[in-house]
Amino acid sequence: MASALTLRKRLEDLTGDEEGHTLSKSLSALSIMAIGIGGIIGAGIFVLTGTAAANYAGPGVMLSFTLAAVACAFVGLCYAELSALIPIAGSSYTYTYATLGEFFAWIIGWDLVLEYAMGAATVSVGWSGYLVSILRDVGIHLPPQFTNSLGSTVKLVDGSTVTGLFNLPAAMIVLLLTFMLARGTRESATVNNVMVAVKLAVVLGFIVIGAFYVDTSHWSPLVPENKGAFGEFGWSGVLRGAGVVFFAYIGFDAVSTAAQEARKPQTDMPIGILGSLAVCAVLYVLVAAVLTGLIPYTELNVPDPIAKGADAVGMGWFTWPIKIGAIAGLTTVMLVLLYGQSRIFYTMSKDGLLPPMFSKVHPKFGTPYLSQYLIGGCVALIGGLFPISLLGEMVSIGTLFAFILVCAAVMYLRRSEAEAHRPFRAPGVPVTPILGVLFCLALMVGLPLDTWIRLFVWMAIGLAIYFAYSRHHSVVQRRAGPAAGLTR
Ligand code: ALA
Repeated sequence: MASALTLRKRLEDLTGDEEGHTLSKSLSALSIMAIGIGGIIGAGIFVLTGTAAANYAGPGVMLSFTLAAVACAFVGLCYAELSALIPIAGSSYTYTYATLGEFFAWIIGWDLVLEYAMGAATVSVGWSGYLVSILRDVGIHLPPQFTNSLGSTVKLVDGSTVTGLFNLPAAMIVLLLTFMLARGTRESATVNNVMVAVKLAVVLGFIVIGAFYVDTSHWSPLVPENKGAFGEFGWSGVLRGAGVVFFAYIGFDAVSTAAQEARKPQTDMPIGILGSLAVCAVLYVLVAAVLTGLIPYTELNVPDPIAKGADAVGMGWFTWPIKIGAIAGLTTVMLVLLYGQSRIFYTMSKDGLLPPMFSKVHPKFGTPYLSQYLIGGCVALIGGLFPISLLGEMVSIGTLFAFILVCAAVMYLRRSEAEAHRPFRAPGVPVTPILGVLFCLALMVGLPLDTWIRLFVWMAIGLAIYFAYSRHHSVVQRRAGPAAGLTR
């Protein structure tokens, strides 16, 4: 199990492609934090807040958001330490490689596809929903067969039903963003900054204006009585709600994938990760409080709960900015996730676990453009074919699994690389990572059995690829000869 390559060696290994092209160091601390916030505020707050309140937690969704934030805070501290220590593109894949070796790194890299690529697909479906809603407001009705997932049943206004074929808007937005990302980080970071500003303004506006309309009687009781089954209100409902709204926090870790393109990774990484997480946690709890104070939680199970909340108290004029803010918000989330996926594949390819095309850098744009296009094509297809609920659950379980390994990596590295200079040290190790593991496990346990089964099937496919391809092509394997595969 012991690492044959030191961290320093690993840092040297992972720069430049075969022709010497490297990722450009163009990101400032502010851009990195914008990547974080851009990656966090999205479908979770704009869609799932209402779902969680109406189905599981009631006004207690405020507590669900707090619980999920606490879990993410422990993990975020671990991420901050690792990303400052190992400022290399690749997220928890890189950390696992440096600690537990190639085999476990492959497992986590494969698992991260669930968070990043499938996360982007999930959000693209939410984006499509908001677009359809805005177009409907202006009298444009897209054919429902082409705005819904394959095989879904769509009820029309006249009571008839049609079967969904392909969610075309979801696929189109993914392809458009993919094209932008392949053209260069600098340009897409600028677009990202603008969109982050728009969605922040909308979220803040909702909190500040909405606060004047809050009827505190809607908050009572804060935790509605349990209805008999686990997760249906009561404290177990708050826990299940936390599992659902956990999705809303996914993305703070995506900051770590930009480490190699940061100007000062040692300071920019902790600031980016913890700063964006803290900002979003405060905003989420406030949005949840205002939303459940505007209308009874039982009315919030709709695709656009925040717009509905604004509408219900006579703030109808604010519905449009909210929808536009949501579209901007979801767009930046997709940008971050698509970007992150290509950088993880970049690093895996440098390690020989994926074919060299994944680390081929464009000579002019400085981006892994081939990989970006391939990822974009697959994500567009998945977003077009599958419903948001199925995708979202897969994203949650995959991400929680990755978070657990990150916490474990911090504990392991504190021993195996005790002397390494740590520009940022997570406080309270080992208690902090242990609590991170426990909180993530608790949220995973709350997820349904079929999600667990899908996770196992996905990982089995990953293992097949590892043994059929990656093991034989890995850099370690080629350096050390046929016997070295599993034991670095
Ligand atoms: N946190 C991201 C969202 O809520 C994934 O859309």
